[in-house]
This record gives sequence, C-alpha cells and structure tokens, in this order.
Amino acid sequence: MIKEISNEELGKLVRLIHRQYGYDFSDYARSSLKRRFQRFMDHASMEEITELSDRLLQDVTFFEHMAQFITVNVTEMFLDPLFYKTLREQVLPRLATYPTIKIWHAGCATGEEVFSMAILLEEAGLLERSRIYATDLNTVSLRKAEKARIPLKCMKDYAQNYLLSGGVEDFSNYYTTDNEHAVIQEALRRNILFFQHNLVTDQVFNEFQLICCRNVFLYFNRLLQDRVLRLFYDSLDPLGYLALGLKESMMFSEENIRFDSISPVHKIFRRKS
Ligand SMILES: C[S@@+](CC[C@H](N)C(=O)[O-])C[C@H]1O[C@@H](n2cnc3c(N)ncnc32)[C@H](O)[C@@H]1O
Repeated sequence: MIKEISNEELGKLVRLIHRQYGYDFSDYARSSLKRRFQRFMDHASMEEITELSDRLLQDVTFFEHMAQFITVNVTEMFLDPLFYKTLREQVLPRLATYPTIKIWHAGCATGEEVFSMAILLEEAGLLERSRIYATDLNTVSLRKAEKARIPLKCMKDYAQNYLLSGGVEDFSNYYTTDNEHAVIQEALRRNILFFQHNLVTDQVFNEFQLICCRNVFLYFNRLLQDRVLRLFYDSLDPLGYLALGLKESMMFSEENIRFDSISPVHKIFRRKS
C-alpha cells in the first residue's frame, strides 16, 4: 500500500514535470491530483515517490503514459442526453442565425462529445457552415480522436443516449464498423479540426459562438478556473454560449457576473454583450 503523498512531495513532483516537460499542474485541485498520482504509482507498482521522480526524469514515454493516466480522459457520446436536448432546442436555433458557426470543444479527450455535436449540427442542417475546433492537452487522446474509432461495445449505450437527446434517426447510420470498432462517418468529421491547446498556458485563438468545456473544470483549483473563464469570455462572440459539465459551476467566480445563465441545470451560459 502506497503511503499518502504529502503537499511537499506533490509540489516537488509538479515542479519537476513543469521543468522537464513544460506541463504546469500547479493549479490543479490538489486532492484529486494527489489521488491520481497515487493511483498511477499503484498501477506502475511503485511504492516510493522518488522512484516515480527518477523515472520521470529519464523516460519521456513513461511521462506520456503517466500524463494520459492523470489527466482523466473518460468520455461518452451524448453524455448527459438532456444537456444535448437543451442544445438542440435552445442553442442551435440561435446559432442558426450566424452565417458561419464556430464551436470550440476545450478538453475534448478522445472526441466522443465532438462527434455528438457534429450529429446535432447535421440534424439541424448546420454542419456544412460550422467549423469545430477540438482541443486537449493530451496528444495521445487527440491522436485517438482523429482516428474516430470507438469500441463497438459502447455503441449500444451511446445509441440510447442519442435517443434520449431527442435524436430520431437510425444512430447506426452515423458510423461504419470494422471488427471491434465503430468508425464515425467521414462526412461528419470534415469540419472538425483536432489540435493541442493547454488551457493553463495557451491563449485565445479565435472567436466562437459556442464553447463546450465539460468535465475539465472540476480538476482545476479556483484560481485556474477564474483564468480559464476569462479566456473563454475573451474567446466568445459578444452573445456566445458556454457549456460546462453538470457538476461544474461558475457560481464562486467573480467572472460569473459577465455571463447569463441560460440553463442552470444543464450548465449553459451566455456571455453578456
Ligand atoms: C474527463 S475528460 C472530459 C472529456 C469531455 N469533455 C467530456 O465531458 O466527456 C477531461 C479532459 O480534460 C483534459 N485536460 C486536462 N487538463 C487540461 C488542460 N490544461 N488543457 C486542456 N485540456 C485539459 C484531459 O486531457 C481530458 O481529456
């Protein structure tokens, strides 16, 4: 059993990673970060934190593996179906008034939420004039997202989510299959661009009508949440929308006065002009 990582040990580890690889985890929520480092040590059969630091200093592939592990990349298609239903009913009709629709998925993991958005846009007749920018810190996840291959065993649940989100088409039309995977149709992916963007250090890169950053905030401390909310405010069109995860909130941030809440339950906000 690995003993609990102290604050001091965590600080050292975070500084080492920042120095060696340029990733800054210093404003991630401390308790969950500790937990994830501990789980990773368990997974790598390491008992001492010094073992972990030594290996990180020497082995970039090991670091990439660890980064994949600690930046929690679980995701689903049409996760929280009623959130997507609200997007269909309340947000897409407003987006339809723009000649070109620019959407940013920040922290998109392996792309499942991005493909869900593409399906919504396609069904609303908006995909052709949409540009979807899908970013994540984690390049391993992004490489997977680009391949758009999803384990076939997940598709039954995703089809159920799709129906609950108000989908009425045959979900299986949106992918082809190869052995154990569903491959999302090329036509749905043509306006999606996947690339690396680090919410801690990178800047605004465009102006968007909708930003989705779901289930990422909860890993950040208050300071970093504020910084990222400012980044999103600056990246939004004057009346652009922002979607957070269902367990996330901007209630405790001073930035909340710059947004209207459109759906408190589904965490959809709109920038005040
Ligand atoms: C739990 S997943 C959320 C995936 C998806 N948004 C969803 O809700 O299904 C969290 C994602 O945030 C990404 N992430 C963590 N820190 C980040 C950062 N500083 N910049 C960009 N993405 C980050 C992780 O790599 C991971 O893919």
